[in-house]
Amino acid sequence: MPPEVVSPLTLALTTCQDNFCSVNFFRRSSTQPSSRWIPYAALILSPKTKIFEGSDPELFETGSKIESQNNKDFMNRVVLSAEKLTKVVPSNDGDIVILDGIDLEINAGESVAVVGASGSGKTTLLGLLASLDSPSRGKVFLAGEEITNMDEESRADLRGKHVGFVFQSFQLLSSLTALENVMLPGELKGESNPAEEAKFLLARVGLENRHNHYPKQLSGGEQQRVALARAFASKPTILFADEPTGNLDTVTGQKVIDRLFDLNEEFATTLVLVTHDDRLALRCDRIIELIAGRIV
Ligand SMILES: Nc1ncnc2c1ncn2[C@@H]1O[C@H](COP(=O)(O)OP(=O)(O)O)[C@@H](O)[C@H]1O
Ligand SMILES: [Mg+2]
Repeated sequence: MPPEVVSPLTLALTTCQDNFCSVNFFRRSSTQPSSRWIPYAALILSPKTKIFEGSDPELFETGSKIESQNNKDFMNRVVLSAEKLTKVVPSNDGDIVILDGIDLEINAGESVAVVGASGSGKTTLLGLLASLDSPSRGKVFLAGEEITNMDEESRADLRGKHVGFVFQSFQLLSSLTALENVMLPGELKGESNPAEEAKFLLARVGLENRHNHYPKQLSGGEQQRVALARAFASKPTILFADEPTGNLDTVTGQKVIDRLFDLNEEFATTLVLVTHDDRLALRCDRIIELIAGRIV
């Protein structure tokens, strides 16, 4: 089994193992870098993260509130927009149009649900908006910058500064404890005390007693709450979540969603959420429905 590797600055810390790789899910176009481009291990980039083995958790103080990088001036500005966004992939039976001329604008602090039948293009749209994938045509502007013309390195940099991601399948690093997983974005950003922030965030998702548990020692709902804490630890301008309750039962999913909306409000994060769950969609400020790659 090869070591876990992650895309370095996708602060959602996508894990990639052997031939199965969630990154492949997004890296589905010929315009995307091959797997050779994603060998950087966050664990290697951040060797100090693994410092808790046998250490006393009390050494680290909790409770310091993280200051959001989103200030009031930023609110009510468009932080994410797409112009005529189109994704076409070749196939043996001719080109498949996955997204067909999507135009949208999302303001800072807004929460937007993307809904639609399976196969309607929701995940593809999220991947393009989060700069994990490149469109065939059209443009994406994220935090004032057009990302569609950037090279992968610049996009990774922009993602590191502005984007958080929560996946249906949690995507925690199995060799790190809950606390270490949440510390990792801060470590990668070179923050002075990522443990303090991580502890604060774990407390906010109700996992203050699970610092030293590994993902496999946690339930699905607990793992997703760790993933939420980790996503907010990168202090994203925009949080993308792709069916974050998709692997959870209704009651557990509800708890995760409550935490998600609490944190989103607290940090004034912009939220773009893909969901099949009507109740969840209705909690967002706005709903965008996709049918066959078009907004209706
Ligand atoms: N690389 C690809 N090649 C061919 N078809 C693809 C590729 N990527 C996605 N698709 C197809 O595009 C459609 C939209 O996919 P997706 O964005 O994952 O939909 P959703 O998230 O709404 O279920 C699906 O029919 C899917 O099979
Ligand atoms: Mg999907």
